[in-house]
Amino acid sequence: MIAVKRDGHVLGEHQIDWVIDAYTRGVVAEEQMAALAMAIYLNGMDRGEIARWTGAMIASGERMDFSGLSRPTADKHSTGGVGDKITLPLAPLVAACGVAVPQLSGRGLGHTGGTLDKLEAIPGWRAHLTNEEMLAQLEGIGAVVCAAGSGLAPADKKLYALRDVTGTVESLPLIASSIMSKKIAEGTGSLVLDVKTGSGAFMKREADARELAATMVALGDDAGVRTVALLTDMDTPLGLTAGNALEVRESVEVLAGGGPADVVELTLALAREMLAGAGRDDADPADALASGRAMDVWRRMIAAQGGDPDAALPKAAETQVILAETDGVLARLDAMAVGVAAWRLGAGRSRPGEEVQAAAGVELHAKPGDRIRLGQPLVTLHTDTPERFERAAAALADAWTIDDTGCDLRPVVIDRI
Ligand code: URA
Repeated sequence: MIAVKRDGHVLGEHQIDWVIDAYTRGVVAEEQMAALAMAIYLNGMDRGEIARWTGAMIASGERMDFSGLSRPTADKHSTGGVGDKITLPLAPLVAACGVAVPQLSGRGLGHTGGTLDKLEAIPGWRAHLTNEEMLAQLEGIGAVVCAAGSGLAPADKKLYALRDVTGTVESLPLIASSIMSKKIAEGTGSLVLDVKTGSGAFMKREADARELAATMVALGDDAGVRTVALLTDMDTPLGLTAGNALEVRESVEVLAGGGPADVVELTLALAREMLAGAGRDDADPADALASGRAMDVWRRMIAAQGGDPDAALPKAAETQVILAETDGVLARLDAMAVGVAAWRLGAGRSRPGEEVQAAAGVELHAKPGDRIRLGQPLVTLHTDTPERFERAAAALADAWTIDDTGCDLRPVVIDRI
C-alpha cells in the first residue's frame, strides 16, 4: 500500500479498510503509517479514497447518538487558527436560541490554540465528561464543550498525533477525513465548518481552502449531516488576544455585549448558519447576545463542568510591551507570527502532553487598518517564564507593516460553501 501511494496510484476500498483497522490495532507500525501519510501528503487522494478513508476511521470506534434529545443538534468545527476563541461565545449563544450544541473539542496544535486548553484556564473547569454527563448537560443546559472520549474515531487520535510529528498535518485528504470522521461519529444533526485561509491557517492558499471546504461539505452531506462551510480569513489573528486565559477574557467580553468587532461578526455569522442547519432560522442570535441570555447559558455551562464563572482568571507573572517604531497605518499583522509568539511564551506545547501556561499569550493593541503613532504600545507579551520573551519577540520581528500606502483588508467571512 505504501508503494501504491508512493507511485501515485489509487488505493482500493478493501486496502483502506484494512490499513485503518490494522493501524488502530497496532498491526501496522507507526513508521509504516508515517510513510503512507507522507505518500498521501505528496500524491493526494481522490474523492472516493477520501470518503472510504473517512468511513474507515469512523468505523474504528463508537458512534454517539443524540436523537433522544428534545432539541435539534448543531455543531461547529474550525480548521484551526490564531486567536480563534469563537467556540467559547458561540456554543452558549446557539444553545440560548434553543439548539443543543455538543462541542467535542481539542487541544492546541503547533501555533494554533485549543479550546480545551483555553477553558482549563478557568479555575475548576474539567474537560472530561462521561457520555451520560454529556447527554444530561445537553438536555439540561443545551451546550457542552468537552474532550472527545477515547472511543470516538480512535484511528484519528493515533494518526493525528503521528502527523503532528511527521510533517503531514497540512494535507487536504488527511485534514478532511480527520475532521469529518470525528464529526460524523459524534452524531450531530447539522454541522458548520469554519475553514480558515491565510498565513495562520493550515491551508494558506484560498484555492486549497476552498477545495478542503467543498470536500468536507460533500463528506458531511453524504453521511446525512447537513453541512455548510464558511471560508474565513486567517491572515491576521481573530480579535485582540492569542493565549488561553486572555482568550477566555475576550470571549466573556463578547458574551457581555462588547468585544472586538471581528469576533462578534464571526460568532454571529456561524450562529446563524448553525441555527439554520438545525431548522431554527427564526431565532435571533444578536438578541440572545444583547439580552444576556447567552451569558446565562455560559455561566451554567461552566459551572456544570466544575468551573467558577466568577473566579478571577490567572494573570501572567511578567509582561513586556512592544512599542511602535514609526507612525502610519497598520497595514499587516501576521497571524502565524503572533501564533508562534504565543506558543513560545508558553500558551502551546512543544511535546504531546506538556502543561501549558494558562496566562501566557499575546495581547494586541491594534488591528490592521488602525492608525498608529510612534511610541504607542502595539503588543503586550504575557508569560510566567520571562526567559521566553526573547524568542517570542524574535517571532514577531517581521510580524507587522506600518506605512502610509493603505491597507487592503479581506472580509472576515470570505465566502459560504
Ligand atoms: N483539525 C483536525 O481535527 N484534524 C486535522 O487534521 C486538522 C485540524
